[in-house]
Amino acid sequence: MAKEKIIFRCRECGGKALKWMGQCPECGQWDTLEEVRSKAVSASGSGRSALVSQPVPIDSVDQNRLQRRQTSIAEFDRVLGGGIVDGSLVLIGGDPGIGKSTLMLQVVSWLARHGQKCLYVSGEESLPQIALRAERLNAHASTLFIVAETNVNAIVEMIGKEKYDTVVIDSIQTVFHPDISSTPGSVTQVREASMAFMRLAKACDTPIFLVGHVTKGGAIAGPRIMEHMVDTVLYFEGDKSHIFRILRAVKNRFGSTNEIGVFEMQEKGLSQVPNPSAVFLSERSAAVPGSVVTACMEGTRPILVEIQGVVAGSGLGGSPRRTILGVDSNRVALIAAVMEKRLGMNLGGLDMFMNVTGGVKIVEPAADLAIAGALAASFLDRPVGQQTLLMGEIGLTGEIRAVGHVHARIKEAAKMGFTSCLVPANAAKRLPDIKGITIKPVRFLKEAISELFHGKA
Ligand SMILES: Nc1ncnc2c1ncn2[C@@H]1O[C@H](COP(=O)(O)OP(=O)(O)O)[C@@H](O)[C@H]1O
Ligand SMILES: [Mg+2]
Repeated sequence: MAKEKIIFRCRECGGKALKWMGQCPECGQWDTLEEVRSKAVSASGSGRSALVSQPVPIDSVDQNRLQRRQTSIAEFDRVLGGGIVDGSLVLIGGDPGIGKSTLMLQVVSWLARHGQKCLYVSGEESLPQIALRAERLNAHASTLFIVAETNVNAIVEMIGKEKYDTVVIDSIQTVFHPDISSTPGSVTQVREASMAFMRLAKACDTPIFLVGHVTKGGAIAGPRIMEHMVDTVLYFEGDKSHIFRILRAVKNRFGSTNEIGVFEMQEKGLSQVPNPSAVFLSERSAAVPGSVVTACMEGTRPILVEIQGVVAGSGLGGSPRRTILGVDSNRVALIAAVMEKRLGMNLGGLDMFMNVTGGVKIVEPAADLAIAGALAASFLDRPVGQQTLLMGEIGLTGEIRAVGHVHARIKEAAKMGFTSCLVPANAAKRLPDIKGITIKPVRFLKEAISELFHGKA
């Protein structure tokens, strides 16, 4: 038998030390080293040697072993790159209470109803609690098995003995490896458990979904260190005060990472939103100063979103207040500076508030022109035409730069009843005619603002 070895591991960063110290030698945190008596975490990793692999010629590998299975939840399949891949390990991260358990229970129940055998392992809720939720979500199925278990070895044994088509572990923070003394949810535990599930997923060809909580600001390091271990990382996000939830792929070994799936949280669980543009614009009121619409690309799909801006005099002097939600605040600062320099709009001393409705987060610079439009509209107190869509990146000299997928964005706007569209002049040259939409090519921010507000700038 291998000799038991004592080492000390840091609860925070997972760093190792051979003797106890007050401060972790790797991350510098105090009082985080814990004694670990284990064979499992020794350098050779006794548990790991079970799978001895042989190199094979690449031509002899059967690619068809990587099967994808679709669920009826198209928004979910799209984010995964077209369905669930056999043997993949997928992390679903998100704030507590956002709806991760709800989503996964709905997914496995759909699979189970279509003849697949699924296992839902919960370390957070008791069996009656899960059954009660399943009742509410109408997620009962005879081949959906549930178990309340937190011991990694027990779960691995369970899945190794009985072949399941899909497994969900809810959540990775509650499971523990009995050979490791640190508490569940600590970096060491999360890492060892993830490794165990990774080996298991590959060995049994079973897709495993790991649910992981991320607190605001990433206070729990757990899911972050798992990101490089798993095949796919999905984040389930949204504003809890809104009903919309967005499932976003931030890493995907089997597909694009730009895709998003949009859901609505309802009493009966999550329902898909196949036409997000309509939903995000549904609460838009008549043309009011400070509200503009842009089209942002989310993966292969253009989505129309409303950007709202308010600029107001602080009156008190001192530093103005800036509250920017849904768009990058550095981007807004840059645009405000360009507006000040090129348009002579004195935004510097004013309070500035921005929001993207529906809790959407825009990362594309293509929204720049819309941000400028919203700020200018509020500054001038004049509305932008309600059927006008804005797109374009703003350069530091006030030029409007081309953006990608212009055609797709305009088509979406036309579908939603927009009639006019401000487009970077460079991109407008190559555009075919689109029925019902007047294209207004703009070269400079000044030109765009005067087009929007009829010569006001
Ligand atoms: N009885 C209910 N009726 C309607 N919505 C509910 C009900 N119970 C829970 N929810 C919704 O489900 C959310 C919790 O979802 P859950 O899947 O448990 O989140 P997570 O697993 O991400 O922590 C709550 O924030 C709430 O919006
Ligand atoms: Mg949960």
